[in-house]
This record gives sequence, C-alpha cells and structure tokens, in this order.
Amino acid sequence: MTVGPEPRPNSGGATSRVPSGLESFLNTRRRLVDEALARAFVTPVGPAARLHEAMEYSLKAGGKRIRPILVIAAAEACGAPAERVLPAALAMEFLHTYSLIHDDLPCMDNDDLRRGKPTNHKVYGETIAVLAGDGLQAEAFRLMAENGRVTGVSPAAAVEAALLFAEAAGPRGMVGGQAVDWMAEGREVGESDVVFIHAHKTGALIRAAVVCGGILGGATSGQRVALEVYGERLGLLFQIVDDILNVEGDTMAMGKATGSDQVRKKATFPAVAGLPAAKRRAESLLGEARAALLPFGAMGGPLGDLAEYVLTRKS
Ligand code: IPE
Ligand code: IPE
Ligand code: MG
Ligand code: MG
Repeated sequence: MTVGPEPRPNSGGATSRVPSGLESFLNTRRRLVDEALARAFVTPVGPAARLHEAMEYSLKAGGKRIRPILVIAAAEACGAPAERVLPAALAMEFLHTYSLIHDDLPCMDNDDLRRGKPTNHKVYGETIAVLAGDGLQAEAFRLMAENGRVTGVSPAAAVEAALLFAEAAGPRGMVGGQAVDWMAEGREVGESDVVFIHAHKTGALIRAAVVCGGILGGATSGQRVALEVYGERLGLLFQIVDDILNVEGDTMAMGKATGSDQVRKKATFPAVAGLPAAKRRAESLLGEARAALLPFGAMGGPLGDLAEYVLTRKS
C-alpha cells in the first residue's frame, strides 16, 4: 500500500488540530504500522483468496491507526523501542478492523461507508464479511502470541498482555459492549448505561492497547497503574468524541456516515446528556488522562498529546 508522510483524507491528519510535534510523531508511527501491515499480507492466492482479499480490503482502507500508535507510544513512554511491540500493535488494528466490519453489518449498524470506502459487506457480501471479521480476529490473537518471540519481551509479559487483550476483546470487553449497545437501541437509557456501553465497546480495546504496550515495553508496577487510568479515561473520551462527531462531524472527513445515531436512536452521550454536557465531559476526561501521566514526566508527552488529538480530531 502507498504510505507517505502526507495525511490521508480520512487519516485524521488533514483536518484535526494536532498539538505541535505530534504530527511528525503520528506520521512516523503510522508509517511503521502500515509497513508492518504490508508485510503481514502477501498477495492472496488459493481457494480462500477472496477471504484474504476481503480482510486486506478493510485493513488497508485507511483509518487513523490510533490503537497501534497507542501501543507504540505506551512502550516508548516506558523506554522500549517501537520494534518490541509491533506485532501487538498490529494485533490491535486487526481486532479493531474486525469489530468495524461486524459493526457495519445489516444486523448491527447497517452502514454503507467506512474509512471512506464501501463497507466490507457491500463489496464482498455478508457471508465473506462475517468470515473476514472472524479471520482478522484469529489473526489478531496469533499476532499477539507472536509478540512473545520478540527479543526483550519476557514470557511473563507476553502472557500477561495476551490475557489482557483477550479480556478486552471478548464478552467482558468489546463484544459485551457491542451487545449492550445493540440491545439499548431505541430504548430509554441513562448516562450510566451509556458509560457502560462506551467503556466496553470502545474503551476496553483502547485501554488494552495502552496497557499491553506498557507491559510489553517493561512498565514498572507504578507505570502500569498510570497507564491503566490513562487508557480508561482515553477510551471513554474517544467514544464520547465519536458520538459528538456523529452529530456535528462531516461525512467526507470522517469517511463514515454522520447523523445516523439519532436516526437509529442509539445510546449516546449527546442523546442522554446533551451536546454541551458531552463536550464538558470530554474536556474533563482529557484533564484526567493527562493527570494520570504525571509519573512519566517528559516521557509521557506524546501520550498526553495523543489524548488531546483524540479530543480535537475531526475524523
Ligand atoms: C471507530 O474507530 C469506531 C469506534 C470504536 C468509535 P476509529 O475512529 O479509530 O476508526 P478508524 O480506525 O480511524 O477507521
Ligand atoms: C463502534 O461503535 C464500536 C465498535 C466497532 C466496537 P459505533 O458503531 O458507535 O462506531 P462507528 O460510528 O460505527 O464508527
Ligand atoms: Mg455500533
Ligand atoms: Mg457503527
């Protein structure tokens, strides 16, 4: 795939207010991720070629690569090089992409546009789209296991990260949140319900990206606690901003539908608390995320800037 320093239309770089210095941080890490991604895929051949093609289609459709960048940034904050966590970084993006393919299916959010392109099932049909998601999920766990073979990663850290990843992906995390999100559609819900949904469907994987990066990067117990708090606040912040952008954002910049949450009566922060309160909550979560990074001193700078980018992004 073509990866250059210029921000892609739906990469978040073109229209967001990025804190100074973060732009080049994001571009170099994104390039690392995209190059590793390109290596992970050889031209699909054989009887299952169409399945591989469908997996590759969604992975390479674009996307901001926030989760893999968070894995890298957390490891670097602990003093480890990006190369130590690259398979785990890819694992996050594979799992996230699977969740998007399934999230867009007619039985879920029924969306036609993702990452600026027709959704997976629109191109490959529902059956292949379901299987492409399944395939990406399995590959994600393979990649996470593979990180245990990287020089400098202890077996204990590899197991710990894999455990955390599985918890975040499954019924106690993302899948649990997606189920409650779907069940809440069209129902009267309160703010605590929305916090549960957001912390699980989106927050769990973002927190796992941060904490797994730290664990594999050799975080001390104090650093790990700090990353847990930061990741939890950032995860909730991320989804509240996603809700706000669904109301106020631009479909072209976002590469996905806007205005759809209200139509489908989704459980969102603006719906239960109103837009101004949603924005205030996002601001205070940014403050809490930044405060959690204090033990890292200057090493926590990029993670702090990433949180600000998550708040101010336009895509
Ligand atoms: C979108 O995530 C889905 C949510 C969990 C809110 P992103 O906004 O990170 O989507 P991409 O990866 O950039 O396409
Ligand atoms: C997506 O949440 C969460 C997951 C895919 C796990 P949404 O349904 O609110 O996000 P978008 O708006 O489709 O990206
Ligand atoms: Mg959804
Ligand atoms: Mg959706």
